[in-house]
Amino acid sequence: MSRIKVHDKYFVPYLSEKEILERIKVVAAQINADYSGTKPLFIAILNGSFMFAADLFKNICTDAEICFIKLASYKGTKTSGQVVTAIGLDMDIKDRHVIITEDIVDTGRTLSYFIPQLINQQPASLKVAVLLHKPDAKVFEVPVDYCCFTIPNKFVVGYGLDYDGLGRNLSSIYQLEI
Ligand code: XMP
Ligand code: MG
Repeated sequence: MSRIKVHDKYFVPYLSEKEILERIKVVAAQINADYSGTKPLFIAILNGSFMFAADLFKNICTDAEICFIKLASYKGTKTSGQVVTAIGLDMDIKDRHVIITEDIVDTGRTLSYFIPQLINQQPASLKVAVLLHKPDAKVFEVPVDYCCFTIPNKFVVGYGLDYDGLGRNLSSIYQLEI
């Protein structure tokens, strides 16, 4: 793996595909243990979480369902400050054990917008599983129950995450070069 260019910016290798998949297996094992005998519903937030949600879900061995919603809050490498629901939830989550699956918690804006909407619908329980967490970027408090990697406050791309639409197809994660 070497330095890559996405649009006008350079990125350097940060987390390899192997490291990512190994860590996802560990987190999936925690979820399998915690949800044994229940039938959790994973709600994956598009676009960014599609690869993480797929790899996590493949490692879930209790009966489980998955559905997708689409929220957007990012423009380029800066958050736009506004969350938009582009595709809403089409499942009844009342009395369900729900696990939100998100690519990254950065400022926390996206999930602090979405979580109250889910709580209104009275799930039996609600937890958050994230691939990446940037605690230093926190503006809004969000409970992160399952986290694969805690990372510094630097922009990353790859493995589903994009810089202005590009980079999602990379199988590993790259960090913005300074
Ligand atoms: P918030 O600030 O709402 O951010 O917690 C969550 C959403 O913002 C996107 N995001 C990123 N996307 N590299 C990306 O490609 C990053 O470093 C990054 N930080 C935040 C992402 O879509 C996430 O769902
Ligand atoms: Mg996202």
